[in-house]
Amino acid sequence: MKEEKPKIKDKSHRYFRDKIGNEYGWALTFDDVICEPGYTDFNPDDVNLETKLGPYNLKLPIISASMDTVTEDEMAIELALLGGLGVLHRNCTYEKQLQMVEKVKRARSFIVENVATVHPDDQISVVRHKMEDLNISGFVVVDENNKVVGICTARDLPFDERENPKVKEVMTKNPIYGEIGISQDEALNKLYDIRKEKLPLVDSEGKLVGLITIKDLKPEFPNASKDEKGRLLVGLGISPSFPSRLQDAEIFEKIDGLCDIFMTDVADVFKKNDLLNIKNLIEHTTTPIIIGNIGGYDAAEYILTKLDFPDDRVVGLKVGMGSGSICTTTLQTGVGAPTLFACAEVADALATYGTEKTIIADGGFKNPGDLTKAFAVGADAIMSGHLFAGCTESPGYVDTIGGRKVKVYRGMGSKEARALGTYVDDRYIASQKRLSEGVSDYVPFVGPVKGVIDQLYEGLKNGFIYSGARDIGAAKHIKLRKVTYSGKIESSAHDLLGRK
Ligand code: XMP
Repeated sequence: MKEEKPKIKDKSHRYFRDKIGNEYGWALTFDDVICEPGYTDFNPDDVNLETKLGPYNLKLPIISASMDTVTEDEMAIELALLGGLGVLHRNCTYEKQLQMVEKVKRARSFIVENVATVHPDDQISVVRHKMEDLNISGFVVVDENNKVVGICTARDLPFDERENPKVKEVMTKNPIYGEIGISQDEALNKLYDIRKEKLPLVDSEGKLVGLITIKDLKPEFPNASKDEKGRLLVGLGISPSFPSRLQDAEIFEKIDGLCDIFMTDVADVFKKNDLLNIKNLIEHTTTPIIIGNIGGYDAAEYILTKLDFPDDRVVGLKVGMGSGSICTTTLQTGVGAPTLFACAEVADALATYGTEKTIIADGGFKNPGDLTKAFAVGADAIMSGHLFAGCTESPGYVDTIGGRKVKVYRGMGSKEARALGTYVDDRYIASQKRLSEGVSDYVPFVGPVKGVIDQLYEGLKNGFIYSGARDIGAAKHIKLRKVTYSGKIESSAHDLLGRK
């Protein structure tokens, strides 16, 4: 006799799924819905786009994807300065990943601890090389005992590159320094007194322990995403597995000590092995982790209830499958979870279990208005590759096609990205060798990322104003309506010469 399964009363929260009709079997996407206008009882300047990303606060809920044509240190630095976050890619050696993390962490800080130095007997050619390599404009000069003997900045280098004197011939000797424990105000006054931009910090024996620079004391980026030491925040896309090679494990430990947030970089993480590997990884690391990607309620519920993940380590979930502009996962396999649908599913799971975790809506964003829609279904931050791949700060060169400037943008599952090595093989199904799940193409070159961020900020802010939401918490109550195909045409520019 067939055993009848007990009927469990569905106590699950359905607020977000009901908003977009998931219960009817629909998996709607951004273009299928519009936000309903709402009553606005605040001024435009009152809109607050701040969000929580695990233990951190971001002034701007915008994150760049961990993809090798989107986020390396340059993009991560600029986005963090503007109040968002860059998540570095992992399609490279652990050494390169560490270098990228170090570059971001060194880019800004109240006190630079890991100070780049040169020796008085170094040739200027070595200094020039180091400056370019580390992207910094000056060095503290220390002797073999790490005692500060001078400062050598770009301004001290001879104009004629053929001259190659030693550092000691051009450096500023006996520089003024500060001592450990100096306050920000004291440091600023000292720098004003000596009219310099860099102040080395020394211990009681005169040995170098840190560096303070004027640009970090008087930040020109008041919204920057920073850690408690004033260094920029940075994320890294990681494998679900702890590195198996000893050499890699040692480097990964260093990355773990520096990086602010890890995001598992897996197309569909709702797999027994991946989740058990993450459990092991958590035991060997200390950095907060965002687990992803997942596409549905069940996956979120499983992660929240079945694995005993510590709450202070698993701080968020990254959602959306197959909706990225370069993704072909759904095309190739028939499986997918549009980001809008996935957000609603996961937001309801979090509400059901009363758990506060950050939801990152990942992929599928084409227009600034899509961001407002993601917040309406429970997202706390959005992640995009497409919006940033064409920026000056993304890796790669600007090319020209038919007179238009372009940059390459490729999926991490494309054959071009995977030709670099096996680094991202476990992003997909381990045994899969030949099936590519992404494409490589071009996107228009759009200049500095600041321009893109300004546009997204304005779109999002105005979206919140029209729908009556003062902040991201309130945006979760924005009502959504399904649009028909003709409604979609009407809500874009239409019936004009040159437009269909
Ligand atoms: P957008 O829409 O910004 O999406 O281009 C970026 C997100 O897409 C995911 N991603 C992929 N998904 N095949 C996939 O199915 C791929 O090759 C691929 N590469 C990236 C990833 O989540 C990213 O943030």
